Amino acid sequence: MSEKAKLTLGDKTIELPVFEGTEGEKAIDITKLRAETGYVTIDSGYMNTGACTSNITFLDGEKGILKYRGYGIEELAEKSTFTEVSSLVINGKLPSSDELKTFEQRIANHSSIPTALQTMIKAFPNNAHPMGVLSSNLAALSAFYPDLLAQDLTGPQKDEVIIQLMGQIKVLATYAHRHSQGQGFIQSDKTLDYCSDFIHMMTGKAVDKEVAKALDILLILHVDHEQNCSTSTVRMVGSSKANPFATVSAGVDALWGPLHGGANQAVLEMLEEIHKEGIGYKEFLTRVKDKNSSSRLMGFGHRVYKNFDPRAKIIKVACDSVLAKLGVKDPLLDIARGLEEVALQDPYFVERKLYPNVDFYSGIIYRALGIPTNMFTVMFALGRLPGWMAQWKEMLETPGFKICRPRQIYTGEVNKKLSR
Ligand code: CMC
Repeated sequence: MSEKAKLTLGDKTIELPVFEGTEGEKAIDITKLRAETGYVTIDSGYMNTGACTSNITFLDGEKGILKYRGYGIEELAEKSTFTEVSSLVINGKLPSSDELKTFEQRIANHSSIPTALQTMIKAFPNNAHPMGVLSSNLAALSAFYPDLLAQDLTGPQKDEVIIQLMGQIKVLATYAHRHSQGQGFIQSDKTLDYCSDFIHMMTGKAVDKEVAKALDILLILHVDHEQNCSTSTVRMVGSSKANPFATVSAGVDALWGPLHGGANQAVLEMLEEIHKEGIGYKEFLTRVKDKNSSSRLMGFGHRVYKNFDPRAKIIKVACDSVLAKLGVKDPLLDIARGLEEVALQDPYFVERKLYPNVDFYSGIIYRALGIPTNMFTVMFALGRLPGWMAQWKEMLETPGFKICRPRQIYTGEVNKKLSR
């Protein structure tokens, strides 16, 4: 772009290049700022930092728009499948039907884990949180594939390890669940689609098509969300050329926190608390608005969306439809609807532009599908894996990419001496 930003510091003015993305987003390129002025920028929480350029996901938080590779999330959720969207996000284009079949077959061929890893899962206490089991065992996979630890994986190796991880995360997630229930492991059934196989391996029961379809939509909605906390973690860890297993395990750990993917579990626990204690919506909102209390309205608010999260809109509709189709009546859904209605009229939420996010209703669907609360964030990880891997691949394939290494401004003690 010919436009330049001017920055004046004292008597010196410098020009900074301006960069524009394909959807019209603009950025000031400060790469050379320190070299030219001695200054760095401070941006706590990366509120205003574009850490990379990317061709994968576009998000307009003011308008509530989300697109993967140019396709709107609404259309993908309605007309596509999780594996097709995964292939789109990872490979940059929609697969042909033959390419999709091969992609799915390759995932199915990787839907097993080494026997030693099964023994490791069994060594965890039954009450271990499945996110901890998932993250540790994803990292542990590195022990079994020494050829994939090379600093510079080739293109085909990268593609293969991504597909391998898509197969193996399904196994690790379901085995973590089975172990927590004191149940034996169930092998993958290659004749089933991804979500049906997941349910089969979780429950060992015949798969209800409605349940599998609902799960498929939920996973599509979670596939990617540009530079969120876990994806940035994946890029950060991957930028040191750490191996893909360690990299994705770090992504799972970042996702686990209640301000990020762990919010789906926290929402359900919040709704259960309101139900159990019979707290009124207004009373509950008074609690979360109190700056002296640490509680928040979980499933509300977003760093980027200052409007309805488009994923939440789709999930709310899906929630009604899934519960109706399965004949499930859930008092927590009424509480969620009531809380949402009151919050959206409350000046505190209106002024701060706090709307329901993807996690507000997803837990109610997972619950209706028979997935226990401590597995909710694992479901998020299952859906997000293709996005993490697409971002990891994109970063490694960007010519001249650099290790992520932010600066700081030191504010501690100076010139202290030991008094010995
Ligand atoms: N309940 C009550 N107050 C809130 C909430 C909430 N859920 N979210 C934000 N606020 C207030 C916050 O206290 C602050 O108020 P003030 O200006 O008076 O200090 C203001 O709104 C701005 O909040 P913030 O924490 O500075 O915003 P952020 O962009 O740093 O945080 C967030 C975003 C998602 C961490 C936050 O909204 C939150 O904690 N939400 C609840 C947890 C949640 O649902 N997380 C899932 C996010 S969606 C899944 C994903 O992609 O990660």
